[in-house]
Amino acid sequence: MTTTADFDPFAPDAGHEGGAVDGRALVSGPYGFAALGHELASTVLRDPRFQNSALRLMEEFGITEGPVHDFRARSIIMIEGDPHMRLRTPLARFMSPVTVERIRGVLRAIVETITDDLDDSKPFDFYRQVAYRIPSMVYCHLAGAPFSDAPKVQSLSERTLALLHRDRSLAPSIRAAYDELFDYLDDLIRRKREQGFGEDMLSYLLKQGDDGKLTEQEVLTEATSMLEASSVNTAHQAGLVVWTLLRDRDVWRRLVADPELIPAAVVEALRLYPRTGLVSKIATEDVELGDVVIPRGSDVHVAVWSANRDPERFENPGAFSLDRECNQPLTFSTGPHNCLGQGLAKAEIEEVVRHLAEHYPDAVVDEDATRIGQAGGRWLVESLTVDLRP
Ligand code: HEM
Repeated sequence: MTTTADFDPFAPDAGHEGGAVDGRALVSGPYGFAALGHELASTVLRDPRFQNSALRLMEEFGITEGPVHDFRARSIIMIEGDPHMRLRTPLARFMSPVTVERIRGVLRAIVETITDDLDDSKPFDFYRQVAYRIPSMVYCHLAGAPFSDAPKVQSLSERTLALLHRDRSLAPSIRAAYDELFDYLDDLIRRKREQGFGEDMLSYLLKQGDDGKLTEQEVLTEATSMLEASSVNTAHQAGLVVWTLLRDRDVWRRLVADPELIPAAVVEALRLYPRTGLVSKIATEDVELGDVVIPRGSDVHVAVWSANRDPERFENPGAFSLDRECNQPLTFSTGPHNCLGQGLAKAEIEEVVRHLAEHYPDAVVDEDATRIGQAGGRWLVESLTVDLRP
């Protein structure tokens, strides 16, 4: 028996303990099923019989046919097995740790350019003025687009992934955003073919297409998936990490004294406050999970926020610790669909934190003027007021 009356898997800030409710790692309710324990959550994420629910969500919102529906149906996140590997392999090759390290210098330059423009003599919204602006500039560099396209990229990522807020009234705006995104990429591809290929991701994908390894439609599908995923999650996650690290003054002092600790601190902060608090899947057939049979068609929500605080997996899970061994939260998922941009996203956030620790060791958060919330199972930053020179 897994039903619990008052548990809401969409509410990571509702004071539930991590890993289980009433001792159960799998619970059910009007929402379907929720996997709470780290081991169970990993099992679901690794099992191709559980498919991402994004297409069904679109269909429930009335997007049941046309180019937006077709894109979603054949996108990398929705498909499994060999067709998935066919789409994933070229992107995974391009997004290797080597690529990430190669562009670290660009990440630093982007952070510096943005912070150079700041009036740091008084408190300001660090989310809006810094964290929000970085990922879309990084995408532009990655895709070989001019930096002047960054506001458009940010807006497209934000408006397309708004699907995950589960607010039906957003459906017309989501459809319009995808149409705009397709037009933008068509235009970018046309410009790239005119100007000649470079070392960027889009050139790489287009060359794969010209070599017959991807169809024209697959190139566009890949580029669309990367653009929608590129900015909004990283912007919020960067804000959540900065918020977490600046509030814990002991931790912050350790980072200022020893910046080598920053990568571990970033992972620990995104364990505690995962942007993707929930990854929602659908069972494509009856699946046995322990002693429960999940019927075909059921919603199974992987509660990353809960799994990341599972005491069976993380000692003293609610505490921030820089000394965890093998710290592997599920914020970027695991298994065949694990996030292709995770190395890049982590590097972006590390460079933001490094810049702050190096240039603003006394920075503090103004809690009264800061709003951290959640929607659709996702942690989000509404505002993050920071005083860099208190
Ligand atoms: C902090 C920021 C990010 C978070 C928290 C995040 C989270 C995730 C999660 C949870 C998944 C897996 C969903 C599932 O299992 O169904 C995923 C997949 C994916 N992410 Fe990210 N992501 C982030 C940034 C990025 C960036 C910057 C990019 C690209 C530039 C990106 C590209 C992708 C792609 C292409 C997939 C699909 C992989 C596949 O289906 O094989 N992500 N991401």
